[in-house]
Amino acid sequence: MGILNLFCFCLLVMAANASVADKNPQQVHISLVGSDHVRVSWITKDRNLPSVVEYGTSSTGEYTSSAIGESTSYKYFCYQSGAIHHVVIGPLNPNTLYYYRCGGYGPQYNLKTPPSKFPLVFAIVGDLGRTKHTKQTLERIKEMKHDVFILPGDLSYADRLQNVWDSFGKMVEPLASTRPWMVTQGNHEVEIIPILMKHPFRAYNARWRMPYEQSGSISNLFYSFEVTGVHVLMLGYYTKFVKDSEQYNWLQEDIKRIDRVRTPWVIAVMHVPWYSTNKAHEGEGEKMRKALEELLYAARVDMVFAGHVHAYERFSRVYDNKSDACGSIHFTVGGGGTSEGLALKFKEPKSELSEYREATYGHGELHIYNATHAHWSWHRNADESSVEVDPVWIQSLSTSTRCATTHFQPLKESVNNIFLNGQCNAL
Ligand SMILES: [Fe+2]
Repeated sequence: MGILNLFCFCLLVMAANASVADKNPQQVHISLVGSDHVRVSWITKDRNLPSVVEYGTSSTGEYTSSAIGESTSYKYFCYQSGAIHHVVIGPLNPNTLYYYRCGGYGPQYNLKTPPSKFPLVFAIVGDLGRTKHTKQTLERIKEMKHDVFILPGDLSYADRLQNVWDSFGKMVEPLASTRPWMVTQGNHEVEIIPILMKHPFRAYNARWRMPYEQSGSISNLFYSFEVTGVHVLMLGYYTKFVKDSEQYNWLQEDIKRIDRVRTPWVIAVMHVPWYSTNKAHEGEGEKMRKALEELLYAARVDMVFAGHVHAYERFSRVYDNKSDACGSIHFTVGGGGTSEGLALKFKEPKSELSEYREATYGHGELHIYNATHAHWSWHRNADESSVEVDPVWIQSLSTSTRCATTHFQPLKESVNNIFLNGQCNAL
């Protein structure tokens, strides 16, 4: 028995001595860390339990590997959280089903790692909450075969009631314990109270730890990650983003590290939309758009996803409020299920830049088929299944010769993997 395994064994003996209810893992969710690791996060009532995950590819409960992590907890007035455990496991093989157990006790969970090659499927929706609509959205996402879930902010709508974070964690566990959830913050994660509670994101940062260190970020509120040929910029609207801010400087450097041969697709995600024709939150994204759009445009970011507005909308390729073949396609996907209701009022007449809009609950599906072509559609919630609307093919800017600049060289023909012999009409 190696030293590490012996240490794990001792920790598991500790776990065996705690009471059943207190050591039961709850609110299990996973997130990506680097190219071949996954962070497993869970909560126990007992704050003295070990942060250990046993895992393997056999479903029989025989685990071939284990990893040790750390735990944290936080106070929010009278509320005291349980132990919030974070354990990074790996290296893991791509596109593989793993079975795992948290803290040496409780049920066995399983997760599937993303593939190393295209195709790759994202489920994307923000503004979840805990309503019957949320439940329906999560059920529909579970029915689809997705690899990674992306959430552009507004998770639990706890709004300072910390028990709500716990019930949200329990609600999403069936989905979030099986596929990586990559999140960024929304306004409902801030949770400050003037004078009384000055530190924002206390619960969010403790519970939803993202792999910010791996992308050179100093904050859980902005980071990037790469998965199967896609570079994803997870931006923070509720932390400073203006020129010379830490986020701005980090973004500048992170963009320089993008290699379109390694990641032909680049996606950005933030909470507040920069482009919207909805009357809700009108103009709120302008300050961030003015600060960061130039950086994203120069990087030839393919798509930008936001929530906050509780509706669905897709724009054509835009830059600086004008149609631009080298700009990003902007999406609003804020219809996850929030209790605040849908944003039903759109401005009229409709802007020519807005290609499709409807105020519905649902989720988005982004199927990236290869280095050049992807398919997107919104899946409106319905009783028995979901209704697919606004299906559209999207072509990556990585191969666009007309978008070449001194800082952006498109991929050469030999790297291109032309889909359907160029027969589909992609944006
Ligand atoms: Fe919001």
